[in-house]
This record gives sequence, structure tokens and C-alpha cells, in this order.
Amino acid sequence: MRNALQDVFNFDLESSIPDLSNKVILVTGANAGIGKATIIEIAKHNPKRLYASARSRIKFNVAFNDVNDIAPNANIEFLEMDLSSLRSVNAAANKILAENDRLDIIINNAGIMAVPHKTTIDGYEIQFATNHMGHALLVSRLLGLLQKTAALPDSDVRIVNVSSAGHFMAPGKGIVFDKLRTSMKGTHEYAIYGQSKLANVLHAKELARRYPNITSVSIHPGRVGTSLLDHYEGPMAVFQKVYDWMVTPFTPEQGALNQIWAAFGKKSDIKSGSYYTPVGKITRGDCRALDGKIAAELWNWQETEFDRLGYSSQGVEKL
Ligand SMILES: NC(=O)c1ccc[n+]([C@@H]2O[C@H](COP(=O)([O-])OP(=O)(O)OC[C@H]3O[C@@H](n4cnc5c(N)ncnc54)[C@H](OP(=O)(O)O)[C@@H]3O)[C@@H](O)[C@H]2O)c1
Repeated sequence: MRNALQDVFNFDLESSIPDLSNKVILVTGANAGIGKATIIEIAKHNPKRLYASARSRIKFNVAFNDVNDIAPNANIEFLEMDLSSLRSVNAAANKILAENDRLDIIINNAGIMAVPHKTTIDGYEIQFATNHMGHALLVSRLLGLLQKTAALPDSDVRIVNVSSAGHFMAPGKGIVFDKLRTSMKGTHEYAIYGQSKLANVLHAKELARRYPNITSVSIHPGRVGTSLLDHYEGPMAVFQKVYDWMVTPFTPEQGALNQIWAAFGKKSDIKSGSYYTPVGKITRGDCRALDGKIAAELWNWQETEFDRLGYSSQGVEKL
């Protein structure tokens, strides 16, 4: 049955999600906002295994304690992962590898926006670390399993990076490689967010180029009413409030539709490497998001970092 939110986009959720009983699916940042709405929708379609990542068991329990009212018999599994710590991401990847002989879909959804300048335990700028580096390591560690799954008959392996139209706000060079291992004090928090979201688009494009047997895309969910910016008190806060008053943000359920479409929509409708705005509209994005040189440089930079810190994926064919 259609509901009001689907009418906003003329998008039929029921017919868009096929039977998921043979699919293993992972959604990051699943305990709140768009990620939680995504998990609840997927859970209604009987997935073989559905991993919902959160920073702690408590956050997971709070988010999903009443989920059976919405999706009876939903079997949602907790995956502990702090995306701002490569050690935590590595441990989560090891758990997935130990528990599964296939992995069909990853939705890289977790994110932070415009938090105060800081470096992570691994020494990276925190928005870049959380929004990009954590997800890049997760995918890197799981590529072998994704490729093995992609080789199975009738498989349809997908990686969906939840980016943002905010990627247009990235600083002039796009990715400021020589500052990624600093807090980037002196660069506006919105521009740093833009850099991390540009990295999400470039990462999907580079994955699509290197691994054509996997469908990799990035999406913008639209402006969505979540707690993403609740902490923000900087000068842009007033502008953001006025903007939200003018546009009326989507609900988290509406905001989840584009990534649900990208993960489960008809394969023939989805072009690997593309950037989509709601729902399913292929969009050019910022010119720096089309720059293959920056995409390759980002890939080499992150792989060098993973090697340096001892997180390279043994046994995975690195292209
Ligand atoms: N809302 C919008 O208007 C909008 C627009 C464009 C793009 N997006 C993107 O949409 C995605 C979801 O955002 P949202 O609006 O749903 O925000 P949200 O309600 O704040 O949810 C963000 C999720 O990411 C998780 N997360 C944050 N830092 C993490 C970390 N270090 N490790 C693991 N998980 C972490 C949060 O967990 P905790 O509860 O532990 O913090 C939460 O589950 C983000 O990637 C965001 O950039 C949102």
C-alpha cells in the first residue's frame, strides 16, 4: 500500500524492495535518523541477515526495543562499530567475515556534520575519519567477501555511500590531503563536512571503476529532519534554521527512500559510479566529484594509510 511519503516522490516502496530472504545486508549508523528508518523498512522484507551498526549495545537496544511492533519477527543484529576508530571498524569487519559466507549490500550511512575541530584516535580530522575513512576501511576489509558474493549466480552486490549535496561546500582543492592528519582548524566546519561528503562520492566512483562486478553509487537523501545538526551553534546555525523553515525537511522515512532505491531498485535502472538525488535522479554533482585524478589520489592515500596502520586486506585482490 502506498503512503503519503511515497507520493512525494512518486516512488513505490513495496514493489521496489524484492524478496530479501537470501541477502545479507549491513547498514551503518543504524540507531538513529535516516539509518534507523532504512533498517526498519528493510526488516519488513525478511532479509536473511540484517546487521545494524551502532557505537554501543545500549544505543542499539534503545533504538530497536519496539521494532517488533513495526516489523514483526524482524531479525536485526547488532554490530558494534565506531566509525571514527579504524581498530573498531577492523574488529566489526572481522566479525562479519567470521559469520558470513556472503555479503550482498552495504549502506554506508553513518555520519556527523560540522562538529568542533578535532582529530581522532588515529590522528585524522574527525569528519573525514568518521564519514569517509571508517567506511573506506570497512569496504576494503569486506571486498573479498563482496567479490565472492558477486561471483555467485543471480547475485546483485551493491555499495551505497550516503553522501550529501553538502559535497559542493568542499574546500577549493576538494580533498586537502596535506591537512587530513590535522584538525583543520581554520577551515570552516561546513567545508570540512563537504570534503568528507565529496570523499563519499569519489569513493563510490573509484569502487565502480575498479570493481565492475559490484554496483557502487553515492546518494544525497535530501534535507532531512534528524539530530545531525542539533549540536551546531556556529554562525551558520541561523541560516540553517531559516533554510529549514523555507524548505520543510523530509521525515527520516522520506530521507531513507533514496538509499533504499539505490540498494534495492531494479539493477537496470542504476548506473554504477553515479551520484543520485531523491529519488533515483542521476545528478552530475560538483565538478571535483567528476575528477578521476582526485578519486585515484584519494584511493591511493587511504590504502597507504591502511597499510601504514596494519589494516591492509590480505588475500583481497587490490586493483
Ligand atoms: N539529515 C540531513 O539533512 C542529511 C542531508 C544530507 C546527507 N545526510 C547524511 O545522512 C547520513 C545519516 O545522517 P542523519 O541525518 O540520519 O543523522 P543522525 O540522525 O545524526 O544519525 C547519524 C548516525 O550516524 C551515527 N554515527 C555518528 N558518528 C558515528 C561514529 N563515530 N561511529 C558510528 N556511528 C556514528 C550516529 O550514531 P550515534 O547515535 O552514536 O551518534 C547515528 O546512528 C549521514 O551520513 C549524513 O551526512 C543527512
